[in-house]
Amino acid sequence: MSTAPIDATTTTAWADLTAHHSDLTSDLRGWFAADPQRAERFTHRAGDLYVDLSKNLITEETVALLTRLADEVGLAGRLDAMFTGEHINVTEDRAVLHTALRRPLPEDGDAHLVVDGQDVDEDVHEVRAALAEFADKVRSGEWTGVTGKRVETVVNIGIGGSDLGPVMAYEALEPYVQDGLEVRFVSNIDPTDVAQKTADLDPETTLFIVASKTFGTLETLTNARLAREWLWTSLAGAGALADTDDARRDAVAKHFVAVSTALDKVADFGIDPANAFGFWDWVGGRYSVDSAIGLSLAIAIGPDGFEEFLGGFHTMDEHFRTAPISENVPALMGLLNIWNVNFLGAETHAVLPYAQQLNRFPAYLQQLTMESNGKSVRWDGSPVTSQTGEVFWGEPGTNGQHAFYQLIHQGTRLIPADFIAFAQPAYPLADGDTDVHGLFLANFFAQTKALAFGKTADEVRAEGTDESIVPARVFSGNRPTTSILAPALTPAVLGQLVALYEHITFVQGVVWGIDSFDQWGVELGKKLALEVAPAVAGDAEALAAQDSSTKALIETYQALRG
Ligand code: F6P
Repeated sequence: MSTAPIDATTTTAWADLTAHHSDLTSDLRGWFAADPQRAERFTHRAGDLYVDLSKNLITEETVALLTRLADEVGLAGRLDAMFTGEHINVTEDRAVLHTALRRPLPEDGDAHLVVDGQDVDEDVHEVRAALAEFADKVRSGEWTGVTGKRVETVVNIGIGGSDLGPVMAYEALEPYVQDGLEVRFVSNIDPTDVAQKTADLDPETTLFIVASKTFGTLETLTNARLAREWLWTSLAGAGALADTDDARRDAVAKHFVAVSTALDKVADFGIDPANAFGFWDWVGGRYSVDSAIGLSLAIAIGPDGFEEFLGGFHTMDEHFRTAPISENVPALMGLLNIWNVNFLGAETHAVLPYAQQLNRFPAYLQQLTMESNGKSVRWDGSPVTSQTGEVFWGEPGTNGQHAFYQLIHQGTRLIPADFIAFAQPAYPLADGDTDVHGLFLANFFAQTKALAFGKTADEVRAEGTDESIVPARVFSGNRPTTSILAPALTPAVLGQLVALYEHITFVQGVVWGIDSFDQWGVELGKKLALEVAPAVAGDAEALAAQDSSTKALIETYQALRG
């Protein structure tokens, strides 16, 4: 185990924040009225993002104290350790270098990033070039299936970080997808997933990408085998596959490629290693959309679009690495989350994109944030000293407004929320004379306003409301929100947004002293599933070994299944 993290709760900044919290009465109405510069004071820019923190429950003193907390827990040193490849993932003894995936190749004569004897820049750019070459072949039709037809559908088979990033980004960047190409995503081991996603596909024009960092994930390998069987059966059904092992091997070679850090296992599956794209153990699954795991996206939007996406990440990395904490958006947002969780008692955090294309962004963030910071011990194995890992959740607006916003507005819990929107619509439609995107964003602005400023009993009465229902119609206000605006949902902006949340997550992990890059919490369930599987399949001894509840559940399932 490495040296103990600095315990944030023992710092003077933490003590001062505690005192500041007990002295502070939240009053967004009063604070805005007293300070016409408040919005400007708390608004920052990072890359193309305009980030307004002013509707949070903070004063200048709060921010000054949080900035001091960052200093006292050594944020700058940890940041440097991450960017330079120290093994800050201590429980797996690994560097954490997703930021290297998007670094431009240094100019001739400039120093390369070398970590553990590996020229990271060289290796990353070699894979980036191979990815671009393959993506171009698929897009141009040079790459064909066994019957000589070009690829029309790419099916990415992966789960967790090998699914959520690519599917989120593919949906977000749908307007950039090449005509005639579609990407589908199979993740769940529920056989419904692979059955539905392949049901209407033509095997001759389908390319599968098996995306798995470890190439050992039960769900992904099971789905890959199901897909391979589907390919063979449906090609044979179309009279396009001879009944020989060689023909089947050729079909796999033309219709399956892989992305993994375990290239030996890829070969065992029957995928030609020449069609496998590698990455490295220093890329966490949930930080891997910008690695070769993004192959499906690179095919869909093209290598240039993918490079722009990576460029967006790099812009945010540079901002995070170089901006002073007082202007550093990921640092400030991470510290603000600490304030909300550890001082204001927030247990969850809503992410509300006003962009239908960011439909999967909250799900993506759930893995990024909760698999990273859902920990009860610190990186030296000692217990955490405060709450960690708030629950992230959300849905695109305005749909959420008609579902769960009631609780955010008038419930008993404090739910900080990030509102995200883009000035340029992907589809600029008008309803008569009304620009619908403008109407859409009016909802964003109205919601953040209502959450901040609420509605007093007198204001409700002034509307002529019957006294008996005045209390039900009062809005307390002082519900914290952060507003993020960007010009348009381009590949570069999406990269900036993802990197922003990666670094927010990192900052929180540093303050809590935890290893944000391991995920031991998912291992037990994986192991137990394998142990329980024989009992489900009918092994009496395995069934007898189960606890009474699990045994009864399995027996009930077996009886219902018939
Ligand atoms: O579920 C845990 C996890 O290990 C994630 O961290 C990871 O993204 C996912 O499984 C998939 O793993 P792999 O890419 O190795 O198949």
